[in-house]
Amino acid sequence: MKGFTTFRRLVFAAALVPAAALTYGAFTNNLTANPIDYITDITGLTALTFLTLSLTVTPLRRLTGRNELIKLRRMLGLFAFFYACLHLSTWVVLDWFFDFASMTSDVVERPFITLGMVTFLLLLPLAVTSTAGMIRRLGKRWQQLHRLVYVAAITAVVHFWWVVKADFREPRLWAVALSVLLGFRAWWTLRTRLPSRS
Ligand code: HEM
Repeated sequence: MKGFTTFRRLVFAAALVPAAALTYGAFTNNLTANPIDYITDITGLTALTFLTLSLTVTPLRRLTGRNELIKLRRMLGLFAFFYACLHLSTWVVLDWFFDFASMTSDVVERPFITLGMVTFLLLLPLAVTSTAGMIRRLGKRWQQLHRLVYVAAITAVVHFWWVVKADFREPRLWAVALSVLLGFRAWWTLRTRLPSRS
C-alpha cells in the first residue's frame, strides 16, 4: 500500500513535467521558432496522452486484479482536463487574444476546431463531477455520465487526425491504441454479461 502511494506521487510529479518544461522554455526563450504552435502541439498531445492513460486503468485492473489502480484513474483524467485547459487557453489567448468573434468563426469554419471544442465540452462535465461528493450525489447516473469519456477519446483522436495534413502515422497509432482499449471493454462486457456455454 505504501509502495502504491509512492507510485501515485511519482505519477503526479511526472504529469507535471510537460507543464514545467513549457514554463521553463517560455522563461528561457526556448520554445522553437514557432512557440505558439509548439505549445499548442505539446498541450494537445499531453491531454490526449492522459485521456488515453486514464482509459488503460480499468483494463489493467481487470487483467492484474490490482484494484488499487482505480485510484489513478481520476488523477489521470484530471490531468487530461488540465492539459486540455492549457491547450484551449493557448488558442484563446495566444492565437486569438480573446477575439470572440474570430474564435466563433474559427469554431464554425474549421471542422477540426469544432471537434476540439466538442471534445473539451465533453471533458468539462466529467471534470466537474469528479469529486467524491458528486460521485455520491449522482449515484448510478455518475457512471452513465462518465461513459462520455469514450466519446471524448474518439473525438480527440479524430480532432488530431483532422489536424494532420500529410503524415498520418501518429494519429493512426492513437486510433489503434484507442481501438484496443475500447475493444477490450466491449469484449469484457460481453464475456461477463453473456451466459457461459460450457
Ligand atoms: C478546446 C478546444 C480545442 C481547440 C480550439 C483546439 C485547437 C487545436 C489547434 C489549433 C491545434 C494545432 C493545429 C495545427 O498544428 O495546425 C490542435 C492540435 C491538437 N489538439 Fe486540439 N484543440 C482543442 C481541444 C483539444 C482536446 C480536448 C484535445 C485532447 C484531449 C486536443 C488534442 C490535440 C492534439 C493531439 C493536437 C495535435 C498535436 C500535434 O500536432 O502534435 N485538442 N488543437
